[in-house]
Amino acid sequence: MTKLLIIDDEKEVGNFLSRLFTSKGYHVKVVNSGKDFSAIDFSGQIFHVAMIDLKLPDANGLSLLQQLKQLQPGCKIIIMTGYSTIKTAVDAIKLGASDYIEKPFDDIDLLEKQIDNLLVSNITSTDEHIKEIAGEVGLILGKNETMNQLIQTAYKVASKNVNVLIEGETGTGKEVLSRFIHQASQRSHEAFIGVNCGAISESILESELFGHEKGAFTGATQKRKGLFEIASKGTLFLDEIAEASPSIQVKLLRVLETREFMRVGSESIIRTHARLVAATNENLQEAVQQRKFREDLFYRLNVVHLKIPPLRDRKEDIPLLIDSFLQRYPNMEITFSESAIEALKNYDWAGNIRELSNFITRIITLTDSSRAVINADDLPLPKNISESSIPVKITKHLNTERQERNLESNLQKWTNEILTVFEQTEGIGLEEVLSLVKQLELQAGKAFILRALEETYGNRKEAAKRLQITMRKLRYLLNEKGDVDLK
Ligand SMILES: Nc1ncnc2c1ncn2[C@@H]1O[C@H](COP(=O)(O)OP(=O)(O)OP(=O)(O)O)[C@@H](O)[C@H]1O
Ligand SMILES: [Mg+2]
Repeated sequence: MTKLLIIDDEKEVGNFLSRLFTSKGYHVKVVNSGKDFSAIDFSGQIFHVAMIDLKLPDANGLSLLQQLKQLQPGCKIIIMTGYSTIKTAVDAIKLGASDYIEKPFDDIDLLEKQIDNLLVSNITSTDEHIKEIAGEVGLILGKNETMNQLIQTAYKVASKNVNVLIEGETGTGKEVLSRFIHQASQRSHEAFIGVNCGAISESILESELFGHEKGAFTGATQKRKGLFEIASKGTLFLDEIAEASPSIQVKLLRVLETREFMRVGSESIIRTHARLVAATNENLQEAVQQRKFREDLFYRLNVVHLKIPPLRDRKEDIPLLIDSFLQRYPNMEITFSESAIEALKNYDWAGNIRELSNFITRIITLTDSSRAVINADDLPLPKNISESSIPVKITKHLNTERQERNLESNLQKWTNEILTVFEQTEGIGLEEVLSLVKQLELQAGKAFILRALEETYGNRKEAAKRLQITMRKLRYLLNEKGDVDLK
């Protein structure tokens, strides 16, 4: 028989839950204090699910959670909490609780469903689901314990409507993780829209977020929907949140408090249900202390705090990541010798997973044969030394790294912008957008080819190799651009 343990000092809550679940055929035990909890004989019975109130007069729900986890590791625990203690409930999830529910219970069906789900689900099915979603968003799962705990927490809170703040150095995967959260939530079929708070000017960002009416300012030739409106049922990803100006911070705070906003130049109130995930590569708490970031906004955003460790702190994942990156080239049989892996583990990876991914791409490009074993000596790896003491040749390598990072993030930004233009503008002429895209293709193609040809002294084969395109593609692009001087 399924056994349920309920720990709550409010007798009515205990009685209510007891009646509810007894009628479903469960065996229910209710205790009203930490003292009564300590008196339970755990050796004689196994509980399948426990519901623990966070605030008890003589005990802390979190410490009961930890004790119960020790005594009966198989017991699934749900924390019961009032709104004011949601942050602690998230801490409980980090400590191993399976879920939390808010009191008062206003949706009994949901409550029953949560318990039923817990009873049927088991660890394997959760892990399988995590793997599946990670695969969908391109998040490579490793072995590092901290990272795996973090992903478990992200998975558990994904279904909750709480804001999430992701902190981590550049290239650690903040955006990938936020897509994972979106994909694991009930909002996965709705929009996931990202905006970079540091990349655009304050006034453009304001109109991006909230939209504007036609004629609201010079240049506002059309009515435009804001991202809070477009992502109302989905997820809004606020990247580089630390860069938001004080005035944007105030406006964000207002939406988070009221869930309402107005388009620029409009007085009608619009409601939004968007779920916010914010990311930062700065320590936002420090920014608050330095008065660069509003404390009230910080607390609103930071309901769930996920800190992604840098790659140098999860070196055990490096071989696995490399394998995954190599799988992008199914026609190449490249392996890394033990000494090469060791060298890669000893490198600092300031650009984290992005740098590692770019690095592997470069190795593939530089390798002549489609079958090769890479040794430590073959690695174009700079030493972990200060840049000022790095010889010119290696500095050039580092700069390329930075440029590549820049290029990748600019292209991503640009793609996002194009896609949001489509969502935001009514009556858009697709031809116009496509012609802009074509222009960029022409400009970028021309610039890249010219540089590659310059560097290879006009050697087309070598240039194509560097650009990672086929000779056919190179010839095609060159024909398009008759003004490229090949000599
Ligand atoms: N766990 C991961 N699995 C697979 N790829 C990852 C993972 N983490 C990061 N990456 C890859 O590394 C690159 C950087 O990831 P992402 O853009 O999410 O980082 P970020 O933390 O947002 O960086 P930045 O602060 O520079 O914006 C991407 O190409 C992404 O696919
Ligand atoms: Mg990012």
